[in-house]
Amino acid sequence: MTHRVAVIPGDGVGPEVVAEARKAVDALDAGVEWTELPWGSSYYRERGTMMPGDALDVVRGFDAVLLGAVGDPSVPDYVTLWDLLLTLRQGLDLWANLRPARLLDGIPSPLAGGPAVDMLFVRENTEGEYAGVGGRAHAGLENEVALETSVFTRTGVRRVVRFAYELAQRRRGLLTSATKSNASRYGYVLWDEVVEELAAEFPDVQHEHVLVDALAARMVSRPLTLDVVVASNLFGDVLTDLAAALQGGMGMAASASLAPGTDTTPLFEPVHGSAPDIAGQGVANPVGAIWSAVLMLVELGEPIAAERLMRAIEDVCRKGIRTRDVGGTARTSEVGDAVVQSLRDH
Ligand code: NAI
Ligand code: MG
Repeated sequence: MTHRVAVIPGDGVGPEVVAEARKAVDALDAGVEWTELPWGSSYYRERGTMMPGDALDVVRGFDAVLLGAVGDPSVPDYVTLWDLLLTLRQGLDLWANLRPARLLDGIPSPLAGGPAVDMLFVRENTEGEYAGVGGRAHAGLENEVALETSVFTRTGVRRVVRFAYELAQRRRGLLTSATKSNASRYGYVLWDEVVEELAAEFPDVQHEHVLVDALAARMVSRPLTLDVVVASNLFGDVLTDLAAALQGGMGMAASASLAPGTDTTPLFEPVHGSAPDIAGQGVANPVGAIWSAVLMLVELGEPIAAERLMRAIEDVCRKGIRTRDVGGTARTSEVGDAVVQSLRDH
C-alpha cells in the first residue's frame, strides 16, 4: 500500500529537519511516497502569497502533510501564520492538535532531579482565541480600539474534549482541562460545562478542572501528576512550549493536527518554528520532526513502523547522539543517520 504524503519543508531549519524525517521514514519501507510543495516565505517573495489559491484542494489529494516550519524575518509573522499554517489547520478543519511531551532517556531535563515527564496535550485547533474575529477602529488616534474576540462553540468544544477523554482512556486515565473560568465568564465556562457533561460517558477516566496559571506551575513542580491535558487554542499553544522545554527543548517536540473520525488530510509538524538564529548551520535538532513522522505513521495505519521509528529515536537519545540544544555535539544529519542505523540494527 502506498501512502501519498505532501511535504512542505518551509523556511529556516524546516527543510533541514524535514530531510532527516524523510530519511528515517524511507528506511522503514512503509510505502510512503513524497511530493514536495515549495510553499513558504520564498514562494511569498516571488508571488505575493505563501501558497497557491487552490492549496487546500491540492492538500486534500494527499494522505498526509509533513511540514517543517514557516517564518522568515523578511515577512511579517502574521502573514506566514495566517496565510499558510492557520489556513491549512482551519481550512481543513483540523480541530485537534496533538502534542506528546515525554522526556526521553538521555535527554537532559531543565529541572533539578530530572523528574519524569509524560503528558499528552490536546489543543483545540480551529476556534477559541485564534478564531480571527475582531477588528480595529480609529487607527493611530489616541482612542484607537482593537478587539480580539474568542469564539467557543459547543460543537467545537465537545469534539475536542471527547477526543481527549478517549485518549485518556487509553493512557493513565486522567484528563486535566485547562481554562480560566474565574476571570473569563463565558467561553471557558461553556468549556467547563462540556467537560462535566462528557464525564458521564467516561466513568473510567478521572477528570479535573485546573486554572491555566496554576497548571503552568504544576507542570513544573509535579509533572508526572499530569496525563492528558485538554486546552483551548491559546492556552494549548502557550502550555506546549513549556511542555517542550520540560522534554528537553523546542527541538524535541512533535505535533499532529487531525480531524479524528473523518478522512480529512492530517498535518504533522514539529512544534518549533523556523529558528532563523541557527538556520543553515546544520545544527538544528531533527527529533521533533522525526517524532512528528511517528505520529504520521500512526495515522497512516502503519502502527508497527511508527513503533519501530519511536524505538529508534529513543535508542539514539539513550546513546547520547544529540544536537547541541540538548547538550550534544552531533549535527542534524548525524542524528538522522543514527536513527536510520538504529532501524537497521533492530
Ligand atoms: P523558534 O521555535 O523558531 O525558535 C525558538 C528558539 O528555539 C530559538 O532559539 C531556536 O534556535 C530554538 N530552536 C527551534 N527549533 C530548534 C531545533 N529544531 N533545534 C534546535 N533549536 C531549535 O521560534 P521563534 O524564534 O519564536 O520564531 C522564529 C520564526 O518561526 C518566526 O517567524 C515564527 O513566526 C515562526 N514560527 C513558526 C512556527 C511553525 O511553523 N509552526 C511555530 C513557531 C514559530
Ligand atoms: Mg506555538
